[in-house]
Amino acid sequence: MTDFRLPPELIPVDGRFGCGPSKIRAEQLDHLVANAHLLGTSHRQQPVRELVGRVRSGLAELYRMPKDYEVVLGNGGSTAFWDAAAFSLIDQRSAHLAFGEFGQKFVNAASTPWLTAPAVVHGEPGTVSSFFGDEEADVFAYPHNETSTGAMTAVRRQGPTGSLTVVDATSAAGGVDIDVRETDSTTSHLKRTSRVTVDSGSPLCPPPLFNGSIASPLRVATFQKSCRSGSR
Ligand SMILES: Cc1ncc(COP(=O)(O)O)c(C=O)c1O
Repeated sequence: MTDFRLPPELIPVDGRFGCGPSKIRAEQLDHLVANAHLLGTSHRQQPVRELVGRVRSGLAELYRMPKDYEVVLGNGGSTAFWDAAAFSLIDQRSAHLAFGEFGQKFVNAASTPWLTAPAVVHGEPGTVSSFFGDEEADVFAYPHNETSTGAMTAVRRQGPTGSLTVVDATSAAGGVDIDVRETDSTTSHLKRTSRVTVDSGSPLCPPPLFNGSIASPLRVATFQKSCRSGSR
């Protein structure tokens, strides 16, 4: 094997993987300490409700969300979202694009005893696959950015009228623009999303606490409201 070495100018100054474990700046920790009065208080208290409200409305503004969509914050990683989707968004059968690790993980979550086996269009790593258009499914799911390969999809509504389009926008939402109206639900990660607005003074990082990336485990999901009310 050739003795390959990355040119020094391409080696990150900080070796941590940019999209995963985040570097936490000292300023962010200071910010947390300066607002410590919010930590450990009940989520029902007004200051916490206000903070969550500001984060939700900031995200709604960032995503240019229509009134009939909502931002939902929750704990947990993508697996929690995929399991919830398999439990309550997929009615009988989902169709997926799988061209890397994360698209395939959603397929695995949707392969449950109570659902019909999903339709899957595989793509070679580094490429993007497309639906054939004849999949019989009530949910069409695909990654926005397949982080394992870097392949990006155009976010477009898929499937027949009445089906849901569910997009895993974990790593790129907020950094790469999408039109949420092309989806019924997206999922992303506040830690990654908020990183793009660090110190920008945008509505996404109102003080206190959310002034930038704080390695929060918070998951962000957007929903077209009626898609959760069984109107399908
Ligand atoms: C596209 C995509 N989906 C899902 C995940 C997993 O996200 P989480 O760590 O929140 O479970 C990642 C992680 O990098 C990802 O890039």
